[in-house]
Amino acid sequence: MVHTVVPNIHVFADIEELSRAAAAAIAQLVAGVTRSRAAFSMALAGGATPGTLYHHLATDFLNATPWAQMHFFWGDERYVATDDEASNYRMAREALLDHVPVPEANVHPIETHFPHPDMAAEAYETVLREHFGGELPRFDLILLGVGHDGHTASLFPESPALQETERWVVPATTPGEPQQRVTLTLPVLNNAAVVYFLAAGPEKAEPVQLTLDDATDPAPCPAAAVRPTEGELHWWLDAAAAGVSAISHSLL
Ligand code: 6PG
Repeated sequence: MVHTVVPNIHVFADIEELSRAAAAAIAQLVAGVTRSRAAFSMALAGGATPGTLYHHLATDFLNATPWAQMHFFWGDERYVATDDEASNYRMAREALLDHVPVPEANVHPIETHFPHPDMAAEAYETVLREHFGGELPRFDLILLGVGHDGHTASLFPESPALQETERWVVPATTPGEPQQRVTLTLPVLNNAAVVYFLAAGPEKAEPVQLTLDDATDPAPCPAAAVRPTEGELHWWLDAAAAGVSAISHSLL
């Protein structure tokens, strides 16, 4: 049975506006959760799209965010050194974490110093078990992007990782560079309280449309498998990724 989750679709004129609005929504989410719970646990997305959002979190909401209660994880990582320009950890440090007073103990990178990514995946699952008390992790928020091929995190089309039902973190490979990856699996992504997809640019219009369609086969379009079982699904899009025509674009 297809699990239908009604996505909340937010469309903005450009990446600057979508990022500013998504940052405000995250700040509101954080404020709500931390009123009743000590920690807000979120998984960061890699790639280029979230950079502007991270900048807004670190500037517009620098003073409004309870950074000591924030715990940062990653949805996936490229299997490179942390100072490699392809590192998702490095990107998040430069755009967000180096500019906010979050305790170092609250930053939980996917370690990439092991001889093999599978060892890194096992190590990260231990980190998650320690943080979430051994239960299937329920992130307060998971940020995701979508590739032009419909991948999300490092769940790539036709990947065996898409069939994973037990492990929370697995190694993955992609034809693109860097080929070796480590990624959260669908059981974790779909156990999130809230998932935000961020997408901008005309090259994302087709994967976004496919992903939103419940009839889409996730094997060639893994992002379509992200349907939180008891959580909210939100899309933060610019007009181009939403496939909004130039005319209606002017209405945004
Ligand atoms: C990664 C990301 C990946 C990303 C998409 C979109 O490690 O690359 O986790 O899933 O979100 O590839 O990337 P862009 O934002 O650069 O288009």
